[in-house]
Amino acid sequence: MPQNLPTALDSLRASLLDADRLVRAVASGRRRSATPRFRRTELRWVDLRAGRRLQVVTYDEQQSFTRNVAADEAGAAVDEVLAEPYGNWHIDTTDEEIQLRVTKKGDAQVHRAGRTGGVDRSHDRRKARMLEPDDPFLAEVGISGPDGRVKPSRSAKYRQVDEFLRAFAPVLDRAHEEAGSAPLRVTDLGCGNAYLTFGAHAWLDRQPDLKINVTGVDVKEQSRTRNEELAERLGWSSTMAFVREPIASVELDQRPHVVFALHACDTATDDALARAVRWDAPVILAAPCCHHDLQRRIGRATSWPQPYGLLARHGILRERFADVLTDAFRATVLRILGYRVEVIEFVDSAHTPRNTLLRAVRTGGAPDPATIAEYRRMTDEWNVEPALVPRLRQELDTRMK
Ligand SMILES: C[S@@+](CC[C@H](N)C(=O)[O-])C[C@H]1O[C@@H](n2cnc3c(N)ncnc32)[C@H](O)[C@@H]1O
Repeated sequence: MPQNLPTALDSLRASLLDADRLVRAVASGRRRSATPRFRRTELRWVDLRAGRRLQVVTYDEQQSFTRNVAADEAGAAVDEVLAEPYGNWHIDTTDEEIQLRVTKKGDAQVHRAGRTGGVDRSHDRRKARMLEPDDPFLAEVGISGPDGRVKPSRSAKYRQVDEFLRAFAPVLDRAHEEAGSAPLRVTDLGCGNAYLTFGAHAWLDRQPDLKINVTGVDVKEQSRTRNEELAERLGWSSTMAFVREPIASVELDQRPHVVFALHACDTATDDALARAVRWDAPVILAAPCCHHDLQRRIGRATSWPQPYGLLARHGILRERFADVLTDAFRATVLRILGYRVEVIEFVDSAHTPRNTLLRAVRTGGAPDPATIAEYRRMTDEWNVEPALVPRLRQELDTRMK
């Protein structure tokens, strides 16, 4: 039954402003007499670090524009979209699906259907992105196209950077605390094409009351020149720098508060962890890459501790076991050196098998004797010295006395 259009639109307002119930609303199409400014508008609520926001995404023919509106301004933003001459509204809430269609006569046809089982809104919010696909830097680094959408061929990289930043978010306050009113210094070791370095800059730059300074380090000169040019194009040259140096010996003017290492090959991750510890970095996030060092050592051994030889007998199992053992040693060494360490999966294994992340926060606490004993027994039984150990021998000797 047709309804008066202004009244029907007004009845949508409460659902759109209900942050606990709204899943997503889409306004699209045009009315007979008028064309909206945007081809389509989507609304949903997201939880950002700065708090809950109404996300308004508008699409023209080429690209999308995203703005996140604070709760006290959401009413005005919703009224603005309701005032556009859209021909259709589709609203999903946790318990209802609402469709509104504007008829040729300019009335509203409204259909409401209850949902059985409901929709888990919390999941939808938890998955709010750290970097919107239309973020200008993503287009500049070639992850998104000019239409503001992630290119299918780059979606794994986009997800990896987004999820890495999601894992960084919970420890940002700790690093910020350490930086105080000075710029937060972030260093990405083995930055390569610097997707993460630029992504971190883009995300941190949006955090309230935070000044930043981001440095990427890589041995390749080509990475340095390419990344510097990119920083220049993005207008970030004053807050970003790129250095061509090996991780093990790089020196920076001031020690960083946060050290990243994303997929630095083989023992370059150990170089990065050792470098970060020597800088006394309050926060370290390292997602290791391939692990060949322990694999080789275990493979060369003439005997293995029994009955655990079963883990090392077959090449493929030995490879996986060496990966686990390497990261377990890295986490333990950091614990002994006064870090609280979590080992987490930062991106779904469907996207990359290299999805383990060591997230370490310096506490400076004394090592637990039980951890030292466990570590000694493990290295003795396997008769291996993890690659991180010679790099931090002095520090470990002091802490393990
Ligand atoms: C697999 S890429 C990862 C790049 C980037 N972190 C990412 O995840 O997109 C590894 C990068 O680490 C750099 N790298 C490897 N060993 C290094 C070392 N010892 N010192 C500096 N850079 C190193 C390589 O040049 C390469 O660019």
